[in-house]
Amino acid sequence: MEAVKVPRGLAGVSVADTRISKSSADGSLVYRGYPIADLAANASFEETAYLVLNGKLPTRGELDSFASGIARRSSLDRRVFDIMGALGGGAHPIDAIRTGVSALGSIDAEQSIQDKEASIESKMPVLAANCLRVPKGEPPRLPGKTGGFADRLLQMLTPREASEFDRWVFERVLIFYMEHDMNASSFTVRVVASTLADPYAAASAGLASLKGPLHGGANEAAMEMLLRAKDPENAGPFVEATFREGRKLMGFGHRVYKQFDPRARLCKEYLGEMTKKRGDDRIYRLCDAIEREMWEKKKIPPNLDYYAAPIFYLLGIEVPLYTPIFAASRVFGWMAHYNEQVEENKLIRPDSTYVGHAGRSYVPIEKR
Ligand code: COA
Repeated sequence: MEAVKVPRGLAGVSVADTRISKSSADGSLVYRGYPIADLAANASFEETAYLVLNGKLPTRGELDSFASGIARRSSLDRRVFDIMGALGGGAHPIDAIRTGVSALGSIDAEQSIQDKEASIESKMPVLAANCLRVPKGEPPRLPGKTGGFADRLLQMLTPREASEFDRWVFERVLIFYMEHDMNASSFTVRVVASTLADPYAAASAGLASLKGPLHGGANEAAMEMLLRAKDPENAGPFVEATFREGRKLMGFGHRVYKQFDPRARLCKEYLGEMTKKRGDDRIYRLCDAIEREMWEKKKIPPNLDYYAAPIFYLLGIEVPLYTPIFAASRVFGWMAHYNEQVEENKLIRPDSTYVGHAGRSYVPIEKR
């Protein structure tokens, strides 16, 4: 059979039929058919996670049992923390979480695929919140007994007391991070799922893919960039200097969204409101000024990471925890992709075009 040649990076290639979510070039995003703005305005994190996993909004009873299941399963075996602790303070946070998920795969006593998935989803926020502390030898912060998924995660991430509005915004950002059709990490998860490896293997592969600055790592890179740019008045020279040095502006550009990212637009509104309430809008003006410069020069819009980063910053969360937060939410999308892949499985094993040497003969080592 003649191999089909596809564009580099599989750009524009549909690699699966999915019912989970769809992002489109016109700036629309739906989860299971519901527009993201509708979910952001009305749904809780747990309702959205249930929807992404099960394809329908939960009834009250289904929601209560789903939410209490996540809370109940969140406690981590001490050995997982011990293994993360052995990595030492130099460990990259995502590597620490990935090690935690791998350890969990050997330690967890869960039997069914569904229970394994629920265990990973419930424990990921605890791993995310502790991926800096535990390798440094600090005691873990454990989830509180009150509040929903987002509140419990935020309490573990920062001791700072958050206002009701700030907590609401944090939950929206988590909803935005949950799912995004065939992004690099979800595709990675599907490749692993297609081999029928277990969900721990798929989730740790998803984490590996998320780590890079072109994917999940972009929110941290965007914040570091904003901190370097400092002043809204400095936006023009900063953008020019970045291009002169041949570097990209982090938090801008997207494979699908070419006009705007609907999640970034909503986050920009929330950021505006947060800064207004604080009586200091410098960071909002800085983001807006760089966005305008970028649009004027390259017609490239900001993505979710660009506006999620300053929101996390205002919430008092340490920058190296931004990608871990992404992971704590995206794991629900990963598990939905895992299930969809396994339900209609075909091993993902593409072909390639060989462009290397041909017709070589082995030369003994002493003759080379
Ligand atoms: N800053 C400056 N230029 C950018 C850019 C950015 N953030 N994103 C894209 N471009 C430019 C590229 O340099 C390229 O220009 P060229 O045609 O002159 O070479 C063009 O836009 C196309 O970019 P490309 O990287 O090929 O598009 P892609 O669809 O493969 O990549 C991203 C999408 C996300 C990888 C890319 O936009 C990027 O690296 N962004 C920064 C990282 C980021 O924010 N990632 C999070 C994504 S949600």
